[in-house]
Amino acid sequence: MNKTIDIQITKTNDSKLAGTNFENLSFGQIMSDHMFVADYVDGEWKNFSIEPYAPLELNPANATLHYGQSVFEGLKAYKNENDEILLFRADANQRRLNESAKRMCIPELPEEIFMEGLRELLEVDRDWVPDQAGCSLYIRPFIFATDDYLGIRPSKTYKFMIFTCPVGHYYAKPVSVKVETKYTRAAEGGTGQAKAAGNYAGSLYPALLAQEQGYDQLLWTDGKNHENIEESGTMNVMFIINDILITAPTTKGTILKGITRDSVLTLANEMGLKVEERFLSTTELKEALETNKLQEAFGTGTAATIAHIDRIHVGGQDYILPEKPATAFSHKVLETLDALKYGRIADTHGWIIKV
Ligand code: COI
Repeated sequence: MNKTIDIQITKTNDSKLAGTNFENLSFGQIMSDHMFVADYVDGEWKNFSIEPYAPLELNPANATLHYGQSVFEGLKAYKNENDEILLFRADANQRRLNESAKRMCIPELPEEIFMEGLRELLEVDRDWVPDQAGCSLYIRPFIFATDDYLGIRPSKTYKFMIFTCPVGHYYAKPVSVKVETKYTRAAEGGTGQAKAAGNYAGSLYPALLAQEQGYDQLLWTDGKNHENIEESGTMNVMFIINDILITAPTTKGTILKGITRDSVLTLANEMGLKVEERFLSTTELKEALETNKLQEAFGTGTAATIAHIDRIHVGGQDYILPEKPATAFSHKVLETLDALKYGRIADTHGWIIKV
């Protein structure tokens, strides 16, 4: 591949690789040895470097710390049987990063900086991509404002960075969820669709209240009437009722346009499952639970992959979902996604990029 950006590479002389236990990986605790960094200064992206992973020095007046002008992405790299590194739908993450950036008044990041920075970083840290079953290298690209200025206006300077961490499962077991009808994650006209830092900060308190009551996550409802189900904590959410897969549409700007969501919908169509992108109301959900018509409920996300839901609190009541048979769609789609990501079946969708 032709290189269009010049990346200054400084390798660590203090690698953490040998001291890392790859047999017992959780999510997001161990960072790999290097990070990619670029600066936005004087109206352009420049100063491309790969450096040893290290803390940043921040001025206390840094605009991100005060006003949250910051967006991020999450994607994964996998190792196949031939020790090659496969990236899953990185182009979609690159596009979504720029969509989020636009909403938060952050300058667009050209595709070649994202892709070449990422490829080069993966080359340098290729030994960090786990080959243990079910494990992968989680990749966190992000952009944040770096002006040291307390007035409210878009920053004039930014940093784009990528770092990675070897990870296992985000959810080690099926999740319990509570339908949230008081607090709001996103409203029409707001920032819900952007992968913006503040969306996650605002969700922490309501999620904590639910966790104190014994639930893992919330099922967010619309900000107007708290009637339609939108998404879950770190995932889009899908239901199968009467053999139809139902998931909220992303047309109102309140829901993250999940890349796993899109992949699952594509595969569902190919597997012949009927798909309806429409809002499921809490009333309909409760009814489906009471009449045993809810066959499956699961979250979809990069970190979570497919997270089975085994308990739902809605309308003041808890409902336990029966264990899903091996033939359940959520099992089958997870198997197919994994087979694609680890290169065990042919990529007919153009989703895999070999590094
Ligand atoms: C992801 O699935 O990549 C996410 O961004 C969820 C994250 C907040 C852990």
